[in-house]
Amino acid sequence: MTRLLITGVSGLLGINLAMEATREHEVIGVDRGKLKSAPFQVLRADILKMDEINSTLDATNPNWMVNCAALANLEKCEADPLQARNLNTDLPGELATLCAKRNIHFVHISTDSVFDGTREGAYTEEDEPSPPGVYSQTKLDGERVVEQANPQAIIARVNFYGWSLGARRSLAEFFVNNLSEGKNVNGFTDVIFCPMWVNHLSRLLIEMLKKNLHGLYHVVGAQPMSKYQFGVEVARTFGLRENLISPQSVERSGLTAKRSHNLWLSTHKLSTDLEHEIPRFSTGLDGFYTQFQQSYPQKIRGYQHLETF
Ligand SMILES: NC(=O)c1ccc[n+]([C@@H]2O[C@H](COP(=O)([O-])OP(=O)(O)OC[C@H]3O[C@@H](n4cnc5c(N)ncnc54)[C@H](OP(=O)(O)O)[C@@H]3O)[C@@H](O)[C@H]2O)c1
Repeated sequence: MTRLLITGVSGLLGINLAMEATREHEVIGVDRGKLKSAPFQVLRADILKMDEINSTLDATNPNWMVNCAALANLEKCEADPLQARNLNTDLPGELATLCAKRNIHFVHISTDSVFDGTREGAYTEEDEPSPPGVYSQTKLDGERVVEQANPQAIIARVNFYGWSLGARRSLAEFFVNNLSEGKNVNGFTDVIFCPMWVNHLSRLLIEMLKKNLHGLYHVVGAQPMSKYQFGVEVARTFGLRENLISPQSVERSGLTAKRSHNLWLSTHKLSTDLEHEIPRFSTGLDGFYTQFQQSYPQKIRGYQHLETF
């Protein structure tokens, strides 16, 4: 049985990847004390200390490692660029080096926002990135150190939504939470992105590992849309009031970190190498809604220590 080690397993991607992978593989998650009684093994370690990571690798001997730990909040990255660099650049570089030495297939999770979004149409893996802020710059630097240290690694630029432990991490949760309470929210009409259901992303990452792919891939949804349109789609699927969402420009949002206007990424390379189409947006949103009906959000929240609620 293939053994998968996931760092940052308490995050939005980490927990959902672990839940997907545990159906077929042996999963070991590494966290810093948030999880209890999850349906996979959880080890506590400080991933910023390489001796702790080395002992974890000695003890577990994984075949694959996916690093889901990051400082992924754009505003926090602007406020603390040093921490952003530690987590988004230096840590992936160190992990990639260790994995290369130990022959562990490593996956580095990057971001769609390495592009400044000033061009029209879709960005491919060949296009030169031009990161607009601290988060995207440190993520791009992470890609480069990983590629240098471990050419066999997969570098996946992603954008995804799903249910998180804290119920507030993804844009879809933002719309569901607020619209369910009858609150008015804004939806950006001038930010185009390609959202993917986190379970689809998780399945694709596992498939890429099984196929032994390496190098840079765009692993995002196949359908570009505005954040406003995404909110409307979520509202319709959940039977919530879409007229509570006001169309607005991101330039009027008051957010401190600069956002790119066009994050339409081509998935042509991925679908070619996997020899099938990327899952449809509507299939992903239906899956997200089915999880809601089946109390999946409550289930994963039950894996946390009580004091972290
Ligand atoms: N969400 C998106 O749509 C999106 C878009 C583009 C790219 N990405 C990328 O996807 C990856 C996963 O993102 P996510 O949304 O799942 O992030 P997330 O929910 O914020 O999770 C981040 C994870 O990193 C861990 N972490 C943060 N600081 C740490 C530290 N100092 N020491 C140890 N662990 C630490 C967190 O642990 P705690 O729970 O203990 O804090 C958590 O497990 C990241 O690389 C992100 O850049 C995400």
